[in-house]
Amino acid sequence: MQNKIKDIQQNFTSDLINVRTEQDLEAIRIKYLGRQGILADLMTELKDLSAEDKKTFGPLCNAIKVEFQNLHQQTQEILYTRAQQALAEKAAAFDVSISKPNQQRGSLHPYSYITQEIEDIFISMGFAVADGPELETDFNNFGALNIPADHPARAESDTFWLPDMHRLLRTHTSTVQIRTMQQQTPPIAIICPGRALRNEATDASHDFMFMQIEGMLIDKNISVANLLAILKEFLDKLFGKSLKLRVRPGFFPFVEPGLEVDAECPFCTQGCSTCKHTRWIELLGSGLIHPNVLAQGGIDPKIYSGFAFGSGLTRLAMLKYHITDIRLLHSGKIEFLEQF
Ligand code: FA5
Repeated sequence: MQNKIKDIQQNFTSDLINVRTEQDLEAIRIKYLGRQGILADLMTELKDLSAEDKKTFGPLCNAIKVEFQNLHQQTQEILYTRAQQALAEKAAAFDVSISKPNQQRGSLHPYSYITQEIEDIFISMGFAVADGPELETDFNNFGALNIPADHPARAESDTFWLPDMHRLLRTHTSTVQIRTMQQQTPPIAIICPGRALRNEATDASHDFMFMQIEGMLIDKNISVANLLAILKEFLDKLFGKSLKLRVRPGFFPFVEPGLEVDAECPFCTQGCSTCKHTRWIELLGSGLIHPNVLAQGGIDPKIYSGFAFGSGLTRLAMLKYHITDIRLLHSGKIEFLEQF
């Protein structure tokens, strides 16, 4: 028995020396201290010994068990400390600025590129960039803009209303007109790029969420000539060439007169699929701000006049970057986004 116990002790020590991982240690615990392990077998052997030997080996076996348990625990602690040190070393060696070869680079969304470009164009003409919330009031989106209570745009089929039926997701960026008038005094010249939402069916050129850009200038003696000069400068710079503009009457309750502005197709000379072979591209709605709207914004229409325009920034981006389906713009598709 004496020799057997010695062998077990020696084997346990050499097994423990070779432990590298927690799994190794667990295997040793099961081998020696498990319910059917070597020490459990030794204990069962005790009952066949003489009373005298039991007195000697019983306490010895118990002492060995305690010793093994202690050694197991110490080894466990050593392994834990080593693992923590390895983690700390790894964290200390991690270099956030290092670049891996063949790493994919991110890029801005096409909306960001075109928005920055448009902002630069207007800032160079003395405009400021204004902002407004996407969650709006009935007043800012409709009432202040001279849109009557029975206008079809107010219907639930066109507008995302909140359950209180007073607040809504803005259907156009024209909400920023009234907000700016209430905060500033003329002369005012702002643009506001931003998101608009409409409860509409989606197809290749219409989405329920899209971007618009609003423009507004208020001062004394502002006329349609000022509007067209600014629009021409803007569109020429955006498309990189001098474009003819075509102006048609258009109805928006918040402008009088109201104008739809088309630009000569920047992509062809004889008609193409982008202009549907008409040579003209519809770009925006605009006009001289209705006196009622100026009055709602706290500006005296007898002293001041102004123009406003609202263009689909989504449409401008699609034209400029030749994007054929509006849904790609918020699809999150990497193959689409990495082209910009
Ligand atoms: C307006 O939203 C007016 N607020 C524009 C305006 C501003 C007129 C200031 C006068 C003075 P309209 O509903 O036509 O107008 O929308 C303007 C542009 O937004 C459209 O020409 C189109 O390019 C874009 N647009 C409208 N609905 C969608 C849609 N569902 N998906 C993508 N673009 C859209």
